[in-house]
Amino acid sequence: MKHIIAPSILSADFANLQDDVEMINESSADWFHVDVMDGVFVPNISFGFPVVTAVNHHAKKPLDVHLMIVDPDRYLEDFKKAGASILTVHYEACTHLHRTVSKIKELGMKAGVALNPHTPVNVLEDIINDLDLVLIMSVNPGFGGQKFIENTYEKIRTLRQLCERKNATVIIEVDGGVNKHNTAALLKAGANALVAGNAVFSAEDPIAEIAELKKINIE
Ligand code: DX5
Ligand code: ZN
Repeated sequence: MKHIIAPSILSADFANLQDDVEMINESSADWFHVDVMDGVFVPNISFGFPVVTAVNHHAKKPLDVHLMIVDPDRYLEDFKKAGASILTVHYEACTHLHRTVSKIKELGMKAGVALNPHTPVNVLEDIINDLDLVLIMSVNPGFGGQKFIENTYEKIRTLRQLCERKNATVIIEVDGGVNKHNTAALLKAGANALVAGNAVFSAEDPIAEIAELKKINIE
């Protein structure tokens, strides 16, 4: 399977959001990565339902919604209504993760679990077969444009081994500091979906940048 590229709209121009949504529509990107932050789970506040709904109104590709919020169970239905196709919650924010994941799937969305850089992959051992996606954070969540944490490669390999051992099929997505210089190594380690915020939106030609990330091949 060719890897997925998901530009993060956190780095978009919020005063001209529709232009950036149309840019992603036109590009070779696969998903919209939508970062929701509550100022409690992470030290930043991004945007909520009105913005997600507005993006969905113009988006021609699935919304990959990354919830950096405490107790996400309160809002699963609302994110479904706002247009999420994939809904990812943080392992560190869920007391009853199995219940949360089951509810996301019952609502008709794909279920993802995100791991902070300090959280080991093996905490997913007993839930991996229920997941559609694991999001490995390669920065501490909260902000775009941070430096990629090198330990991520080892985590991806460990997750790949866990999936093989448990016969689980999940998308392995990496989020934070992804760019054209580390893409090949991430794919080689076993990632098959990459989020890119700053790399795309700070590029002179974001469509060309997305195409470049998409065309990197490891075969
Ligand atoms: C960080 C967010 C990321 C962020 C990535 O908390 O989850 O999705 O937008 O941005 P870059 O690619 O700039 O690190
Ligand atoms: Zn994210």
